[in-house]
Amino acid sequence: MKILICPDAASARTVAAHVLKRQIVKKPASVLGLATGRTMEAIYKLLVTEHRESNLDFSSVTTFNLDEYIGLDATNEQSYHYYMQENLFSKVNVSPNSTHVPNGAASDVEAEAKNYEAAIAQAGGIDLQLLGLGQNGHIGFNEPLSSLNCRTRAITLAQTTLEQNAEMFGGNPDSVPSRAITMGTATILESHMALMVVTGPSKAQIAAQMIEGPVTAAVPGSALQYHPSCLVILDEDAASALVAREAIDWQMRHDPELVALTDCL
Ligand code: GLP
Repeated sequence: MKILICPDAASARTVAAHVLKRQIVKKPASVLGLATGRTMEAIYKLLVTEHRESNLDFSSVTTFNLDEYIGLDATNEQSYHYYMQENLFSKVNVSPNSTHVPNGAASDVEAEAKNYEAAIAQAGGIDLQLLGLGQNGHIGFNEPLSSLNCRTRAITLAQTTLEQNAEMFGGNPDSVPSRAITMGTATILESHMALMVVTGPSKAQIAAQMIEGPVTAAVPGSALQYHPSCLVILDEDAASALVAREAIDWQMRHDPELVALTDCL
C-alpha cells in the first residue's frame, strides 16, 4: 500500500484526477471501476474539465460502478445511475454502452449480481478501481463483517451507512434504501490498481484503522492491505490519526512514483 498525504482535500482530488487521467492516456481502452459519494463529485468535475479543455478521451473507456441501491431505477434522482449521469457520463464522450452500474431495479437481484461479475471478467478485469471509504470502513457497500472473500451480491446496509448517506435522502436515514447490490471485496481486490481517496477529519480514525490496523472483516477497507498495487490519497485531516507518519513521509520523499505525483500539484 502506498500512501500519499496531500496538504488539503483539493490537492488530494487533483492528484486522484491526475492518476485517472494518466491511466486513460496510457491505455485509452481502460476498464475503470468507479465510485460514488461526496468525495468523488469534485474528482469527476476535474475529469470533465480535462475532457473539455485538454481533450481527455473517454471514447474507448469502459466503466463499472461499485454499487447501487436496490429498489431505485436509473431515473431515480437518488440512484447511483443518476449520480453517474449527472457527474460524469453525460459530460464526457464515454459510450453509453460501455458504462455499467448494477441494476438496483432488477427483478432477480442474484442473477443481476452474477451477470455483473461476469461482465467485469468479460471486459478483461478492472485496470483501475477508484474507491472512497465509508465512515464505518466500508468499500463499495461491503459493510463491516462482510467476508473479505465476497463477490458481487445483494447486501443489507448498516445503520451507520443509512445515517451517513441520509443527507442525499432529505436527511432522514429511514428514507435511505436498506439494501444494495455491491461489487464484492474479492472483486475489488482483483483490480490491477486500486486508488482510494479519503478526505476530512471525520474519516481520520477509520483511515488509520484501514491503513495501520489488522486486516479484519470489521473494517472491509483493510483488505486493501492485500492489494498488490494500492494507492491511498489522503488530506492532512484524514491522515491526522496515522501513527506511522514518519515512515510515510520518508516514502513520500523517496518513492519515485509518489514524488512524481506530488510534482503534479
Ligand atoms: C457510499 C458509497 C461508497 C463511498 C462512501 C463514502 O456509501 N457506496 O462507495 O465510498 O459512500 O462516501 P462519501 O465520499 O460521501 O463520504
